[in-house]
Amino acid sequence: MSGSDPRFSFLSAPPSPSLEALFAEDSDRISRLSVSEQGIYFDFSKTHLTESLLLGFQQALRDAGFDQRRDDLFAGRIANPTEGRAAEHSAERGEGAPESVAQAKQLHGRMRALIEAIEAGALGDTAHILHIGIGGSALGPDLLVDALGRDSGRYDVAVVSNVDGSALKEAFARFDPHKTLIVIASKTFTTTETMLNAQSALSWMAEAGVEDASGRVVALTAHPERAFDWGVDETRILPFSETVGGRYSLWSSIGFPAALALGWAAFEEMLEGAAAMDRHFRLAPMAHNAPILAAFVDQYYSLARGAETRAVFAYDERLRLLPFYLQQLEMESNGKSVTLSGAPLGVPSAAITWGGVGTDAQHAVFQLLHQGTRLVPVEFVAVVEPGHDLDEAHHRQLLGNCFAQGAALMAGRTHEDGARAYAGDRPSTTILLDDLDPRTLGALIAFYEQRTFANAVLLGINPFDQFGVELGKEMAKAIDAGDIQFDASTQALIDRAFG
Ligand code: F6P
Repeated sequence: MSGSDPRFSFLSAPPSPSLEALFAEDSDRISRLSVSEQGIYFDFSKTHLTESLLLGFQQALRDAGFDQRRDDLFAGRIANPTEGRAAEHSAERGEGAPESVAQAKQLHGRMRALIEAIEAGALGDTAHILHIGIGGSALGPDLLVDALGRDSGRYDVAVVSNVDGSALKEAFARFDPHKTLIVIASKTFTTTETMLNAQSALSWMAEAGVEDASGRVVALTAHPERAFDWGVDETRILPFSETVGGRYSLWSSIGFPAALALGWAAFEEMLEGAAAMDRHFRLAPMAHNAPILAAFVDQYYSLARGAETRAVFAYDERLRLLPFYLQQLEMESNGKSVTLSGAPLGVPSAAITWGGVGTDAQHAVFQLLHQGTRLVPVEFVAVVEPGHDLDEAHHRQLLGNCFAQGAALMAGRTHEDGARAYAGDRPSTTILLDDLDPRTLGALIAFYEQRTFANAVLLGINPFDQFGVELGKEMAKAIDAGDIQFDASTQALIDRAFG
């Protein structure tokens, strides 16, 4: 698999012993392969990482120039060479080049002032927030509001991303146009789906007789001039830096609906939690560094065991959007075919991220995880404190099921009837949060961002561009314009649908 790539030659050694054997031979395995950081316990002990694999991966990371790339990232130097820019999401939470941190603080100040103005009724009676954006301009805010905003009672937020009008109609049915604030979130302010949805939302308000509908629009963008040209007054435009990537942007003004729904103090706590995780990533030795260990696990199963996918199951309803958020973060960042220098990658890029919610997923996809022929490294994410006040039996059962699945995947069970046997020795990682509060969630998301970066460094790729999405966008525009003849199959579909 990776044996021919000299960077990973250490993976051609005989495969690690079984998980059971690894535990049997090392009574200290849990303490060596777990990390507690920012109220989060990361347990990597149910993976096949061994001391020699750890040493091999640490050397591979050093050889890949990790120190330099990490320092460049945090210093605001060019980390995204194909687009010639820095990647400064960490500066948004206070960990970055001083001038970038200062600029982020100033822009956060604008955001906070607008939130306070809205709270004071400056934009009229506001109860509903219609957030329109797609990809990184939707997935992050949606996750934050869904995870933390359920009981806040401050504002009712709907995040609409799909250009399918049914998505907007659903929000229209829920919201009173006279009490709605339209938030247009788009880094580029050119994304066709978002601009069409924004236009339709504005028409919905105007048609309902809302006076000065455009006065109830807020824009979140790295191109304030485009929002201004679109018709948003500059007092309601919240800019952010071009150096903050779309899928890394929830810390910037793109987080506006979350800051509004949860309150400014909560938003700041989330930034602080993320900053603390950044410091852990920067300063902790590799062998005790949660994002780095997680990247070693990812690469081990991808490169040495040929795993094509990795599955994330949130055993907490409040985190049900986490797998969707991670799909963009991991697959848009690390689904690449060339290295930083443009040479063919030579090894598989990111695994496919998928997942769901526990315990629901146990009754749908876990059959394959336990008995299927494909290896799927599993990640469980759970929270010790429940998010509700119902009978504690609910949470006991939820967590008990989560822990049972990891144990069952590892232990397996012999049986004379093959249909009833479990091979076992199947790996899992468990991420256990003490509580789901803004600080811990910020730290968790930063963990995932830095793990994605560590994976990119190991592979030698640029995680901050996304040229792979461009071709399809161009073709969709051409279909809309009707000015190109497509291949026979596509043309037949176009003719059948549009006549
Ligand atoms: O199509 C991919 C993408 O560029 C993502 O990277 C981004 O998060 C999304 O589209 C939305 O882009 P924008 O914020 O510019 O509307």
